[in-house]
Amino acid sequence: SLPVLLDVDTGVDDACALLLAALHPGIDLRAVTCVGGNAPLPDVVRNTLTVLEVCGRADVPVGAGASHPLLERPVDARHVHGDDGMADLGWAPPTSKPDQRHAVDLLRQTVDEAHAHGTPLTVVPLAPMTNIALLARMYPESFARIGRIVFMGGGAMVSNATAAAEFNVFHDPEATAVVLDASADHGVPVTMYGLDVFYEPRITLSQCDELAALDERGPAALAAGLMRFMSHRFESDSATIGDAGAVAILLDPDAVQTQRLPVRVELSGTWTRGRTIVDTRDWSGDMDHDPHGLAEAQVDVALEIDGPRVAALWL
Ligand code: BDR
Ligand code: CA
Repeated sequence: SLPVLLDVDTGVDDACALLLAALHPGIDLRAVTCVGGNAPLPDVVRNTLTVLEVCGRADVPVGAGASHPLLERPVDARHVHGDDGMADLGWAPPTSKPDQRHAVDLLRQTVDEAHAHGTPLTVVPLAPMTNIALLARMYPESFARIGRIVFMGGGAMVSNATAAAEFNVFHDPEATAVVLDASADHGVPVTMYGLDVFYEPRITLSQCDELAALDERGPAALAAGLMRFMSHRFESDSATIGDAGAVAILLDPDAVQTQRLPVRVELSGTWTRGRTIVDTRDWSGDMDHDPHGLAEAQVDVALEIDGPRVAALWL
């Protein structure tokens, strides 16, 4: 099965992604690294340990990483994800502890080990990309050994944190820019699972009832609790599995349509900081005429998804 590392800010939908990655036999979850984002870093680490413990996967090392973005102060999203960052379900705190290594060191060692064994690691950032940017700057030779990056962030047409920007990229635009540049420099393929597809794989409240009937305080009950919370928060009869979609497309790549396009991150701008600029112009025959270097960072941008198919896989 595919060796994978998740970088998370757990986070209701990060928890959904962890559930899938921890339990699906097609994924070999090697490690999880944490970053401040949806909630402050200590909450993110606790939530992540809780999910893995509920899955019976306390064996997966969890590294605590950056508490702050590279440049700015953290702005969390507890108004969306709950006071504890993970739906305020009141589950007992985890007994397992984080790994002693800093997330960046855990990342480096996990990347290097997978590379040494001949199956390069797929790194899946589902949060502000601070830890990944630090890896690129501290250990560029290890960054270059990443097999593939599939990140949740940005959007070609859709935004959420501001009118222009998606939360993960908005939270640490410099980090995203560093990662896209380093990937282009080192030839690491990047897939962007952004807001254009993020909201489409959805779980209904009646599917939550089916899930909740499967176990008492196990992964299915947790999954149901998370999705019910988000449905209620948005006054809907369904909720997106969010970040979990980025894990699902590793298992079912045909469920998503991507297009290879230049992507840049807006780092200034009065109203547009953190926006991903996805160049959808037709460059055919004109790739030499690129005065701003926009075409250098080629990313496989997810533009369409079979939502029900991805939701069914997650279920
Ligand atoms: C992203 O931001 C967070 O709220 C979610 O966990 C997801 O990673 C969506 O913009
Ligand atoms: Ca997230």
